[in-house]
Amino acid sequence: MNKKNGVKILGTGSYFPKKVLTNVDLEKIVDTSDEWISTRTGIKERRIAEENEYTSDIAYKASIEALKTAEISPKQIDLILVATISPDMLFPSTACFLQKKLGSKLSTPAFDLSAACSGFIYGLTVARAFIESGLYKTILLVGAEELSKFVDWTDRNTCVLFGDGAGAMILSASKEEDDILSTYLEAEGAYSDLLFLPGGGTVNPVTTKTMDEKLHAIKMQGKEVFKAAVPKMAIAAKKALELSGKQLEDIKLFIPHQANIRIIEAVAKKLGISMDRVFVNIHKTGNISSATTITALDEAIKVNKVQKGDIIELVAFGGGFTSGAAIIRI
Ligand code: UT7
Repeated sequence: MNKKNGVKILGTGSYFPKKVLTNVDLEKIVDTSDEWISTRTGIKERRIAEENEYTSDIAYKASIEALKTAEISPKQIDLILVATISPDMLFPSTACFLQKKLGSKLSTPAFDLSAACSGFIYGLTVARAFIESGLYKTILLVGAEELSKFVDWTDRNTCVLFGDGAGAMILSASKEEDDILSTYLEAEGAYSDLLFLPGGGTVNPVTTKTMDEKLHAIKMQGKEVFKAAVPKMAIAAKKALELSGKQLEDIKLFIPHQANIRIIEAVAKKLGISMDRVFVNIHKTGNISSATTITALDEAIKVNKVQKGDIIELVAFGGGFTSGAAIIRI
């Protein structure tokens, strides 16, 4: 591709629903314990959206903050991209609902992208390609999830793991700077049955039978997913680093997908990086799929864990399987 522009990251934002659900609260819902959840996953609490607070609502709040940081108005956005696996509806896209809430000009193209927990990194890759090609100049990229509405609250294997939240980033064309040094993506559809939501699509259209069988909730073979996540995240992290021409020492902070603290620690060990260079906020958020890396990045910026000009690596793995990594400069 003939690269016409570099990509500048103008700003980030995030939003979490107000309601906190702790492990102790979960003890009253399913046969679990704070001790099991904390030691097996690192999660202490997660945020849960209200019944009438939709994915596009939390995406909107994160977007408004990102627009403020970037000091631009919604009218300056010429593409809206939302990575999500928990959309407002099967269609229209959550990106279209977000466009309506932003009040941006009606012609702004908007679409959703589905790559599960790697969604934000897939989105970053798409946004980068659009900007570099010269097709779009200023893109609003969001990772937003309300997984609390897609879990079986009687299944302790999954309901303790997930949470709700949204993060946003504004990317813009630049002749001088390039803040995305590399991106790397992979998918392995052969493992699609290890982490999936079987109901509501063409395989299992909604019927009372699919409802009774709870096919509308996330199903996961946790152990198998765990085993794949560690090597896949390490491979993606290494590939993105290679593509960027940078060395491990150049990376100020690693921001991995927050699914399980034991996965994060194992990936750090495989890469040979100490945990003080790895950002962790899973204890407060749980797994928020496509929103984990962007909300963690936004928090790292807000708490001054990173400064302007620092190089950061994002890495993720999720249902699909999908995996990916990106080296960025903030
Ligand atoms: O974001 C996309 C990627 N997703 C992930 O990366 C998640 C990957 N997987 C994991 O994080 C872990 O596999 C889990 C946290 C889901 C599970 O941890 P585990 O160490 O693999 O446990 P397990 O599934 O092997 O279960 C061990 C035991 C079982 O009991 P038995 O059969 O040994 O008697 C489970 O029934 O723990 C039991 N268990 C629970 N006990 C208390 C499972 N869930 C719970 C629970 N509370 N919530």
